Amino acid sequence: MKLPRKFYESLAIGAPAPFRALPVRLERMIHFVPPHLEKVRAKVPELVGQVDVILGNLEDAIPLDAKEAARKGFIEMVQANDFGTTGVWTRINALNSPWILDDLLEIVGAIGNKLDVVMVPKVEGAWDIHYIDQFLAQLEARFAVKKPILIHAILETAEGVKNVEEIASASPRMHGMSLGPADLAASRAMKTTRVGGGHPDYKVLGDASGDGLRTIAQQDLWHYTVAKMVDACAANSIKPFYGPFGDFSDAQACETQFRNAFLMGCAGAWSLHPSQIAIAKAVFSPDAGEVKFARKILDAMPDGTGAVMIDGKMQDDATWKQAKVIVDLAKQVAAKDKDFAELYGL
Ligand code: GLV
Ligand code: MG
Repeated sequence: MKLPRKFYESLAIGAPAPFRALPVRLERMIHFVPPHLEKVRAKVPELVGQVDVILGNLEDAIPLDAKEAARKGFIEMVQANDFGTTGVWTRINALNSPWILDDLLEIVGAIGNKLDVVMVPKVEGAWDIHYIDQFLAQLEARFAVKKPILIHAILETAEGVKNVEEIASASPRMHGMSLGPADLAASRAMKTTRVGGGHPDYKVLGDASGDGLRTIAQQDLWHYTVAKMVDACAANSIKPFYGPFGDFSDAQACETQFRNAFLMGCAGAWSLHPSQIAIAKAVFSPDAGEVKFARKILDAMPDGTGAVMIDGKMQDDATWKQAKVIVDLAKQVAAKDKDFAELYGL
C-alpha cells in the first residue's frame, strides 16, 4: 500500500493534483440520457434545471451500431450547454470492450474541463480503478484539464462485491459507487429478471396459526449488498448510490426501493425515466418533520454533548451527530431549491 503522501500525488506530470476531499455536490438523482438521439439532446437545456446530475450513457442500452454516435452526441451535448451547478457525468463502456479507449480519449480531449465524473461499469477490483486512474491522469496532462475527473464505480459483479472495500479506497479519484442490480443478478445467477426491487418469492413466512393463516412479508433482495456498499463508501468518505429501478409503471415500488436506500445512507439513485426524477427528489431530500426535529436537537445541545429529553425522546452526543447529518443535507437541498428552503424554514 502507498503512503498517504504518495497516494495524493498526480499520476502524470502536468495532471491536476487529486482532490483531498470530495467537492460538496447535491446528487439526489443521476439522470441517464441516451446521447445518440437528437431529440433527447434537444431536451437537455430543460433538464438542466430539474436534475442534479446529467449522465450521457455510452454503455448498456446503447445499440452496437450507435456506440460512436452516442460518444459524439455526448460531446456535442456538453459543448452546446451551460450546466451551472448540475453535474456532468458519462457512463463509459466496460474495460474489456473495444470502445473504452476512444470513449476516454475523445471525451477528455473535447470536454475534459466540463466533465465531473466518469462512471465505470462492471468494476471487479482495485486494479480496474488503477488502470482508469492512470489513463485519466495521462489524458488530463495531455489536454490541460484543470481539475481532476472523478471515478464512480458500478457495483454489479459478484467479484466487485467481494472486493468492494479495495475498490472504495483504490484512488483519491473515487467519487462513489452505485448498485447495479441487473448485471449483479446475472453475475450471481440470481433467479430474477427484474431490475432492482423486491421479489414476491423472496419472503419470510410466519408460523401457521390455529386458524391456518400465515403472515407473509416480501423481503428486499438488495439489502445485504446496499449495506456492504454503504459501509465501504462511508469508511472511505465517498458516496453510495442505489442504481436503476426498471419497472417504470410501479412508482410506489420505485419510491420504496429509493427510500430504503436513502434511510440506509445512500446519497441518491439513478433516474432512467422522467417520472423517476420527482421520486428521487422527494426521497433524497430529507423529510420536513425530520429536519424540524433535528434542528431542535442541535439547538438544545449547542456544543453537541450531554443528554437532554426532547418530546419524550433521549438525545445525546450520538443523536446530535445523527441530527447534524439531516440538517447538513437539508441546508444543501435548500441552497439549491427554493421550495425546500421554505419547507425547511432555512
Ligand atoms: C446497471 O447497470 C445494472 O446492471 O443494474
Ligand atoms: Mg449494468
